[in-house]
Amino acid sequence: MPESAAKRSSPTPNATDLPRREDWRAILDVLAERCSCRDFDGSPIDRSVLAGIVADGTEAPSSCNQQQWHFIVVDDGALKRRAWEISGGNHHFAECSALIYLCFQKGWTHGNFSVVQSVAGAAYHMMLSAHLRGFSAIWNAGIGDKAALADMLGVPPTFEIQGALAIGRPKPSAPAMKAPRRPFGQVHSWNRFERPAVTRYPAKPADEYPFFAIRNDDNPFAVWDPAEWDWGQIADFRGYSVWAKSPLAGVYVSRRQGEATAVELELLPAPAGDGRVVEIMPWGGTYSVELRHRLPPSVHLHLAELSPHNLAFVEERFRQEGLPLDRVSLDLFADGRLPYADGTIDAVVLPQVLEHMPDPEAVLDEVRRVLRPGGHVTVSVRNRDSAYGRHWAEVESRAQVPNQGPFQPIPAASVEGWLGERFAVEQAVGIGSGTSHDAAVLTGPARLSGRLFAGRWRRE
Ligand SMILES: Cc1cc2nc3c(=O)[nH]c(=O)nc-3n(C[C@H](O)[C@H](O)[C@H](O)COP(=O)(O)O)c2cc1C
Repeated sequence: MPESAAKRSSPTPNATDLPRREDWRAILDVLAERCSCRDFDGSPIDRSVLAGIVADGTEAPSSCNQQQWHFIVVDDGALKRRAWEISGGNHHFAECSALIYLCFQKGWTHGNFSVVQSVAGAAYHMMLSAHLRGFSAIWNAGIGDKAALADMLGVPPTFEIQGALAIGRPKPSAPAMKAPRRPFGQVHSWNRFERPAVTRYPAKPADEYPFFAIRNDDNPFAVWDPAEWDWGQIADFRGYSVWAKSPLAGVYVSRRQGEATAVELELLPAPAGDGRVVEIMPWGGTYSVELRHRLPPSVHLHLAELSPHNLAFVEERFRQEGLPLDRVSLDLFADGRLPYADGTIDAVVLPQVLEHMPDPEAVLDEVRRVLRPGGHVTVSVRNRDSAYGRHWAEVESRAQVPNQGPFQPIPAASVEGWLGERFAVEQAVGIGSGTSHDAAVLTGPARLSGRLFAGRWRRE
């Protein structure tokens, strides 16, 4: 019998049976320590315990008490591996002890997704139950193709599969870090809506913003042009969303990028042994990891980001990748001003970030200021005048702004012109002739037509 069935049959406790106030605080403090786990050890959990967790979740309130939820617990190894395949990138689906698919019967919504709200209440209750029992969990909306899942699980078309909880025991090495929470003052107000402007991201002007007009791949209100955002908004957006994953080795490797990183790295200068290299806006550190592998260990790597949350993420990511941090500085910058004295840096690297900046030319002025004479800047930029640039305009930019923040590919000729006004060119190439994956190196006039425009320039 699920253990909470007995609990449910007991009468409502008297006020005197309830934990004392200070105990409530202690319980809430324990609940607040919960954090998502995406790195499980694969050990099994007894079915009676899993059933108890699900039963606890069904104590949640539901709209009109309809309880139109259904929870499918998947603890079969082959099915978990298939669930991983269907999800795309969620290796934790195969490594967790069990997945709990969150489903509901389509029908009653109250005009306010009330059935969805109800399932969400139950799902969080299950996470807290798992946490109190000493397990870890992660909630996933990203479960992949729902038709394939419905087929795997035998879910009828009148039921929706909304997401999945993965529950298990973390590997000893799993990062046990809670994603940062916004300052409480930012996210609540009394008696009327008040919220700091920096936390509100831009939307295209419209008479109204109907929720149902917004889809993942088609958001008519999304503003991709970073010039319409200010630095603070970009910092805010990037700094929280980087925690959409855990800082595990290998996270946030772009499928579109393919082999292009190797070509970008070939463009780096060879800094002296005691050199200082700055990477600007590393976000989750994917390029930083490659850069650290590539640079001599004695070279000091500065990572300049807009939010301390990115820096904390990259710091743990380096640990998970087994990379030393003794010659790495995690530096904050704001409003496009770099935190380095004039002429003190040997090389600056801008890997596909100029197009994320409200004023890229002003940042290039800053790069010039901090570079020593003879120092280098290495740049790669998504090129608007390319097959990818056209794809971005016609397809990608119709979607929501991605977690890395707003960006807009820039014509290669513009970037080349901006750099030529400030630096001496050493090498300039196009990378990739298709919209994704390939890393063909394009030279001569074709350099202006690659998916990326990239090169190395020297400060005279
Ligand atoms: C509704 C919902 C959907 C989520 N979907 C995913 C997902 O698809 N993939 C993922 O890695 N994390 C997902 N998460 C986990 C969040 O990224 C995570 O809760 C958030 O970063 C806060 O971190 P914490 O849970 O450690 O406090 C989801 C969380 C919620 C509440």
